[in-house]
Amino acid sequence: MSDKENQDRPNRAATVGIHGRSPGGRIPGSPVVSPIVQSATFHWAKPEDGDLLYSRYGNNPNQLEVGQKIAALEGTESGIVLGSGMAATAMVFLALTEAGDHIVASSHLYGATRSLLLDELPRRGIETTFVDPDVDQGWRKALRPETQIIHIELPTNPTLRFFDPRPIAQLAKEKGITLTCDATFGSPVNFRPSDSGIDVVIHSATKYLSGHSDLIAGAVAGSEDVINQVTLMSRLYGPVLDPHAAWLLDRGIRTLDARMTRHNENALLLATWLSEQAGIQTVIYPGLATHPDHVLASELMVGWGGMVSIVLEGGGAAADHFIGKLELVTAAPSLGGVETLVSQPRYTSHAGLTATERDAWGIPDGFVRISVGIEAIDDLIIDFAQALEAIRL
Ligand SMILES: Cc1ncc(COP(=O)(O)O)c(C=O)c1O
Repeated sequence: MSDKENQDRPNRAATVGIHGRSPGGRIPGSPVVSPIVQSATFHWAKPEDGDLLYSRYGNNPNQLEVGQKIAALEGTESGIVLGSGMAATAMVFLALTEAGDHIVASSHLYGATRSLLLDELPRRGIETTFVDPDVDQGWRKALRPETQIIHIELPTNPTLRFFDPRPIAQLAKEKGITLTCDATFGSPVNFRPSDSGIDVVIHSATKYLSGHSDLIAGAVAGSEDVINQVTLMSRLYGPVLDPHAAWLLDRGIRTLDARMTRHNENALLLATWLSEQAGIQTVIYPGLATHPDHVLASELMVGWGGMVSIVLEGGGAAADHFIGKLELVTAAPSLGGVETLVSQPRYTSHAGLTATERDAWGIPDGFVRISVGIEAIDDLIIDFAQALEAIRL
């Protein structure tokens, strides 16, 4: 299929999630679903035997198949899957920098990514300047001659901000800097970073891509050149994805579009309902007109996503009480699975910050992050209603 035909096809993500860039062969007797090639190594004696396959090299058939499928979903030349979202982020940073280089990063980042930039990479001679995306000209002012990467997260965790990546992409292009984006929260169904000029897309595939909270995986999509560099780094550091997990990830992606449609619907219904309830100070959801980035998110996102955050009036004690009362909804870190999960960032992703820092970031005590699953919305509302009622008593 030519690029033009690809673009014109309706339901692109729905189709690509199932078939990849092109449907498989039509050989009678061949399996409709690729088998799991649970082999560490492959017969090979000399260069004439073709490519040397070895599962740590990232070229096991299951790893290759799902990496290519993610590239197709993201609209990039190439893609690779890795052992976790953090492995994906770390391999990108290490592949694109060397000692003496500099990174400019959004201050709205997943906690471990922030620690990687703040605490770990300086030990390897790589410094980071953090920029508040709301500050005008902040990105340009933070650049240095040795800046190699601008790194952003969209939508952000857990405040669900969505700022405009297009001017940042223009700036990066002008300066010859690589713009990387952790797009875990949207999934390629809701937001395709490459359409906004972002060079490299990073996912915690543990979340929406796999979709069932049953594996840990990461993915990187970008140009052939960048993916080759990331592959090289991964061959040295070794954070590869096991073939069975790669197969499971591919299976999850086959239903990604259908799941995201339901996540988007449920989250909008829940956020709207929560906005009408007593005891809640704030409801944060890009699909609500009250959200600071509602207009931009509506322009750049296909759906507003499955994440909803709330701030309870009673602070941290109310959040503990509320979560303790939930019966169907489960308290657990992580997100993007079929089941609804709740967590408090003060205990999980942002535990490394002080309460004052969290306040400044819009994550006060009482902040509860909800990963809205694909259960019947009425059952979710019944459960949230009884837990809210319990904390009001
Ligand atoms: C936005 C974001 N990026 C990256 C990660 C790290 O992913 P993993 O746990 O798969 O390493 C997470 C984990 O919660 C996340 O929320």
